[in-house]
Amino acid sequence: MTYIPAENRYQQMRYQFCGKSGLRLPVISLGLWHNFGEVDSEYNARAILRDAFDRGITHFDLANNYGPPPGAAESMFGRILKNDFSRWRDEMVISTKAGYFMWSGPYGEWGSRKYLLASLEQSLKRLNLDYVDIFYSHRFDPDTPLEETMSALSQAVRQGKALYAGISNYPPEQTKRAAALLKSLGTPCLIHQMKYSMLVRDPEDGLFDVLVEKGIGGIAFSPLAQGLLTDRYLDGIPDDSRAAKPHGFLTADAVTDERIERIRMLNRIAGERGQSLAQMALAWVLRQPAVTSVLIGVSSPAQLDDNLKTLNRLDFPEGELKQIAEVLFDLE
Ligand SMILES: NC(=O)c1ccc[n+]([C@@H]2O[C@H](COP(=O)([O-])OP(=O)(O)OC[C@H]3O[C@@H](n4cnc5c(N)ncnc54)[C@H](OP(=O)(O)O)[C@@H]3O)[C@@H](O)[C@H]2O)c1
Repeated sequence: MTYIPAENRYQQMRYQFCGKSGLRLPVISLGLWHNFGEVDSEYNARAILRDAFDRGITHFDLANNYGPPPGAAESMFGRILKNDFSRWRDEMVISTKAGYFMWSGPYGEWGSRKYLLASLEQSLKRLNLDYVDIFYSHRFDPDTPLEETMSALSQAVRQGKALYAGISNYPPEQTKRAAALLKSLGTPCLIHQMKYSMLVRDPEDGLFDVLVEKGIGGIAFSPLAQGLLTDRYLDGIPDDSRAAKPHGFLTADAVTDERIERIRMLNRIAGERGQSLAQMALAWVLRQPAVTSVLIGVSSPAQLDDNLKTLNRLDFPEGELKQIAEVLFDLE
């Protein structure tokens, strides 16, 4: 059936400026790392994307290697985009990245100009797009001059193949240097994509300060710790969960008894706030001034609906933050 987006789609979401740029992002963005590969149902993927757009999610995040196999998520998204969303392309912010292994030989990963620009060409073909909104260097490359990596991002923007440049997984010092280089090239660093959740708090050790100081937006990936910070694993590992799947990046041994015990405590605090654990975990990430958006993954429209209700309660009284900190204390 022809897809017509919900008319009220912009009345439900909140949008925030991404750092000091003029680009506003939804506070909840959707990532396609999992659930959009050849092993997944395109019918379900389309339902998730339609639901997301209907609810005001305008930002969709990809990378060259998302699948499996690598490239499959961009291809699936490209097909759905062409069929369902081509009339609404200008209402969407679509990002992709290059940095991790994509093809064999010396030019298929890391941060050379050769790899980044060739990979972007391939991504655009798979996505059926003339340009992406954001092109990221997916990880810092210690063996390539940062000048080269940043000038490749800047070139992609000057060529009109990307509208903005971003970096992901860069440590604080390298983030500062990357931002200075991009600025000198006339292509400001729009955004930094970093792993951040109640279970992974490294960005609090310096990165967030750099982002605020440099006016770079922060988008937090895996804010639900790949599903651990939800009710998914409270009573074991369900067969259809990421931890049970052979191709997933969450392994069953991450679901430890100690973690589950603490997660049950968090679940109780969430209940007292009138929220699901997923909603509390997302609100907790969004309380950081450096975070523009949380970048979630979902395997069903029902999970998306649950996560979107986060917007009903974002505030945290001091007492609740203290309670949460006590539960998380010393957790491995
Ligand atoms: N830059 C990078 O290096 C990098 C790395 C990783 C991810 N990312 C980006 O971040 C995005 C999100 O990462 P992620 O998928 O790990 O995020 P996440 O939101 O932490 O985890 C998503 C998983 O959590 C479960 N889930 C989500 N909502 C739920 C709910 N309400 N109730 C129960 N379970 C729920 C689902 O697991 P089930 O599948 O088990 O249902 C879902 O697949 C990626 O798609 C990608 O765009 C970037």
